[in-house]
Amino acid sequence: MIRGGNKLHGEVTISGAKNAAVAILPACLLVNDICRIENLPDIKDVKLFLKILEQLNADVKYIDKNTVEIDCSNVDSYKPSGDLTRKMRGSSYLMGALLGRFSHFCVDPPGGCDFGTRPIDQHIKSFEALGAEVDTSRGMITGSADKLRGGNIFFDVVTVGATINAILAAVCADGMTIIDNAAKEPHIVDLANFLNNMGANIRGAGTDTIKIKGTKDLHGGTYAIIPDQIEAGTFMVAAAATRGDVILNNVIPRHLEIISAKLIEAGVKVSEGEDSVRVWVEEDTKFRRINFSALPYPGFPTDMQPQLVALLTTIPGTSTAREGVWENRFRYVNELKRMGANIRVEGKLAIIDGVDKLIGAQVKANDLRAGAAMIIAGLMADGTTEITDIYHIDRGYENFEEKFVNLGGDIQRVQVVDDILD
Ligand code: EPU
Repeated sequence: MIRGGNKLHGEVTISGAKNAAVAILPACLLVNDICRIENLPDIKDVKLFLKILEQLNADVKYIDKNTVEIDCSNVDSYKPSGDLTRKMRGSSYLMGALLGRFSHFCVDPPGGCDFGTRPIDQHIKSFEALGAEVDTSRGMITGSADKLRGGNIFFDVVTVGATINAILAAVCADGMTIIDNAAKEPHIVDLANFLNNMGANIRGAGTDTIKIKGTKDLHGGTYAIIPDQIEAGTFMVAAAATRGDVILNNVIPRHLEIISAKLIEAGVKVSEGEDSVRVWVEEDTKFRRINFSALPYPGFPTDMQPQLVALLTTIPGTSTAREGVWENRFRYVNELKRMGANIRVEGKLAIIDGVDKLIGAQVKANDLRAGAAMIIAGLMADGTTEITDIYHIDRGYENFEEKFVNLGGDIQRVQVVDDILD
């Protein structure tokens, strides 16, 4: 429940990156030793992943709420329970990790946010390039190889998930793997840094071409996950949307440049520190309409598209948002319209005519980032906004209501929904 109208003010510390965490946790399966992971976000998707590892017989020890030690030495199964894996997209990384470890995997199709079809053909193509056979014909996805060997992988589309799965499968394979047209997101670099820290030989992560020299000699170690680009972006947009003044700590400003650039174009002030960013709106600001396209990194992140559209609903003039990654990521627009937004969707384009103000209403979090957009809309709106289905938001944002309350937002969790993890 949000009572809108308060300008956000103060400082917020950004948590570890969800999408790096859900790649690094399965990567621990490749290591027969203790991996200590720090700056792990305390979110539902991470808890779910740790449960999946425990079910596979990993030893998981919480040091504090953001630090765990994981020992996968005793893992002896390549069949994770579908009850858990079906609840999240990141579980698809178990395919690459289990293939890398056991040369076999048997998993249920992964879950996650619904943006239209979410094919896995490129994941399968990369496993096959390393010598595995993959079968999807009986409701499960199974893969097996006599021996995984390095190979050449050329992706037909830029895909984060398949790039991560290809890295996970190739790290311990015999020989050299070259991945072309790889995704370049910060969490791909983070996964490569984690694995290299544990003894892997991965070069070129963050560019179009990644080269992996397979090695069986991975060892344990300590690794801190990068700050979450999308959580940071969400608070940046929320600061702008409420015409506030917020300093975000524990960020990598380079990862936020494209988000800063769009905010500045719209008339918002942004300044960068070494590991902080300040976002504020001056009294006499004349906001400007903007156009943007969501694209793979270093383009504007699709996972920030709904939040930026929420801000644009009250910027005078006509702005446009083009979705360049997912087939259908505008389902949340109907919820914004319930709050008085004037938005028309034509295929992958949303045309936003700025209105004076949004009005509080009862709306739904359709998915994780749609939920974040509803929070921003609620904070901007006149009156009270009730957001349901917030379990989506809990999947990916640590202590979100507490962080907003600390910045002066009037936001309250009024009903706690039971969850298999609680
Ligand atoms: N695609 C294919 N074939 C494949 C794989 C992907 O055609 O085998 C297509 C998809 O249909 C899509 C495009 O490639 O059109 C990009 O998909 P990608 O594989 O990059 O997405 P993903 O790995 O499933 C991750 C994030 C998403 C984020 C996208 C894009 C995780 C767990 N999920 O998904 O994050 O939107 O990359 O950046 O890392 C979120 O955090 O809210 C979220 C949805």
